[in-house]
Amino acid sequence: MSAFARQDGARIGVFDSGVGGLTVLRALHELLPEVGLDYIADTAHAPYGERGSEFIVERSLTLAGALIADGARLVVVACNTATTQAIHALRQRWPDLLFVGVEPGIKPAVQQTRNGRIGVMATRATLSSERYRQLVAQHAGEARIFSQPCPGLADLIETADLDSPAVLERIAQSCAPLSEAGVDTVLLGCTHYPLVQAHIQARLGEHVQLLNIESAVARQAARLWRHWREAHPEEGVAQGIQLASTGDPLPLQRLAREALGWPLEARQRKL
Ligand code: DGL
Repeated sequence: MSAFARQDGARIGVFDSGVGGLTVLRALHELLPEVGLDYIADTAHAPYGERGSEFIVERSLTLAGALIADGARLVVVACNTATTQAIHALRQRWPDLLFVGVEPGIKPAVQQTRNGRIGVMATRATLSSERYRQLVAQHAGEARIFSQPCPGLADLIETADLDSPAVLERIAQSCAPLSEAGVDTVLLGCTHYPLVQAHIQARLGEHVQLLNIESAVARQAARLWRHWREAHPEEGVAQGIQLASTGDPLPLQRLAREALGWPLEARQRKL
């Protein structure tokens, strides 16, 4: 895999407020190794979790627009916060393109809990969104959902120093109320959090199962991509993975290497 091994052609675009979407990118690349993936981390504007809806919608339109201009036929919004706030706006702006979002998997969590007590760790923007309220109303049933904002955690993960005392302390603070509530299942409702999953697991204990949704999202994106290919056999497809950041690209590059084992360069892209 070379840094900017790039051909013209159709590809899949992926964006997140920062490095979190790498967890989705990894799952996608496993399923579609032959398809070009362009990733943009909106590092200059991260984190989104404490921002207002208007800002998140505007950034999402800008990032998706850049990916589409470069040839993306399918855009994966690899961010729960941007999905809950902006996916409708994206579909409205580009009704002929395909969008896949990430949102907290309340339904699978309800299917897997044994004691009916579920924790959801996510950003404030996600937890206060109308979409999250709907997901809980539709799927929680008898289960009790304990929604836990983790302010500052995504921002700390953005430094790429995943084992720092500050990260561990923030995780301890966010997990304490969930342990007290006696949850047996915790949903990682922010794509940044799987990057520190081992620390979250250690803090909550092995008896708590952690769920994340990256693989399910990648499966859905792969399904849509294959349908699209069948309908457009004449279009060439790009190859290779391209990483870009709207801010300092080094943390993205470092995490791609350390957490994913991908020796890619990330470049800066002002958007
Ligand atoms: N990774 C993002 C999510 O899945 C948001 C992190 C942030 O920017 O606050 O919600």
